[in-house]
Amino acid sequence: MPFKPRLLLTGASGFIGGALAARLLPTERWNQLLFLIRAPHREDGLARLAHVLRRHQVPEELLDRLHLEQILCGDLNNVDAWRDDPRLASIQDVVSSAAVASFGNHPSIWPTNVDGVLAMARVLSARCRLRRFIHLGTAMACGRQAPLPVPEGYDAGEDTDHFLEYTASKYEAESLLRAELPELPLVVARPSIVVGHTRYGCAPSGSIFWVFRLARALRSFPCTLNDRIDVVPADYCAEALQLLLDKEQLQHREYHISAGEQRACTFGEIDAAIARGIGEAPMHDYQVRSLAQISEMQSRFKELLGPCNRRIVLRAIRSYGDFAQMGMIFDNTRLLAEGMALPPPLTSYAGLCQRTSRGTLIAEQMKFDYK
Ligand SMILES: NC(=O)c1ccc[n+]([C@@H]2O[C@H](COP(=O)([O-])OP(=O)(O)OC[C@H]3O[C@@H](n4cnc5c(N)ncnc54)[C@H](OP(=O)(O)O)[C@@H]3O)[C@@H](O)[C@H]2O)c1
Repeated sequence: MPFKPRLLLTGASGFIGGALAARLLPTERWNQLLFLIRAPHREDGLARLAHVLRRHQVPEELLDRLHLEQILCGDLNNVDAWRDDPRLASIQDVVSSAAVASFGNHPSIWPTNVDGVLAMARVLSARCRLRRFIHLGTAMACGRQAPLPVPEGYDAGEDTDHFLEYTASKYEAESLLRAELPELPLVVARPSIVVGHTRYGCAPSGSIFWVFRLARALRSFPCTLNDRIDVVPADYCAEALQLLLDKEQLQHREYHISAGEQRACTFGEIDAAIARGIGEAPMHDYQVRSLAQISEMQSRFKELLGPCNRRIVLRAIRSYGDFAQMGMIFDNTRLLAEGMALPPPLTSYAGLCQRTSRGTLIAEQMKFDYK
């Protein structure tokens, strides 16, 4: 019998896609999954996938069930190379998680996040009878001018004042999917900031957690300890995606996956939780410092942060410091109304994130976000 997968997942070798794959493997969906993976051949793709899933502690017996037919070797930057793959014909559901999720100026941001996603969606719309196409947007695509808390489904159109090329690309992809493919059963899931895992801390990925480590090591950052940040763990994000995937009827087409007013934490609370987790005291000597002031500390970066590229550290402080000061909170009423529970606050697992980051240089952890 030919393998007829039902669910195409892109980005499974990444943080969120990996968390979703780890969540789906113990369910009956496991053998419906087709994974789009960048790899020269299926064996390599399967090995890459298994590597990521082990970081999410997926048991070996579940990994052993995965088979080579579930790997579709392909790149969003060259959809023509895999568009005719016969396995795509049976796809009904899609979770489009692949993206260049970089705060840097990666040359592939636009070709992948916009052109590649659009090309894939066109092919799938033409070839498949799609039931649901979940696209991972980002809550930060709302732009600087957004009201707080940012409403789900918020769209300022041409007035959007984008944070970064990455957030602009995510906005553009969503807009073009809607405009060019009105028949696509599109649901956009917009996570806020995904940090760590409630059970495995930073073992699956250290993405963005290094920001808190950096501030703690420098005893300063361009925000106050009272500023709040909207963070969710990867496992909560995966659970929400599964809900959006499995639920027969959804009330809306855009959802935040976010902490919202109820679970957003202040930087001070997060630092206290990190300190508790490693038996240290919270920062008592923290000072709000601008990027220019932190830049004056450059000669001490190596001593405070360990080996690092000063230019990248300063660039990171500019991007994240800018964002941290804005106190952006993303409303999650729609998602909660669909039946999702509130997320655990970062303070409940920040200590674990810190413990699982031990032995990893801050500069090393930053590579998750500066590829
Ligand atoms: N993490 C967050 O805080 C956050 C917040 C809001 C929204 N999001 C969105 O959530 C999604 C997943 O983010 P993430 O944090 O999981 O990112 P990630 O860890 O960087 O993973 C990105 C994934 O996309 C794949 N990919 C990149 N370029 C590709 C291409 N040309 N063709 C095929 N696959 C490609 C990567 O494959 P390789 O392994 O081959 O590189 C990887 O599997 C993204 O759409 C992102 O915009 C993330």
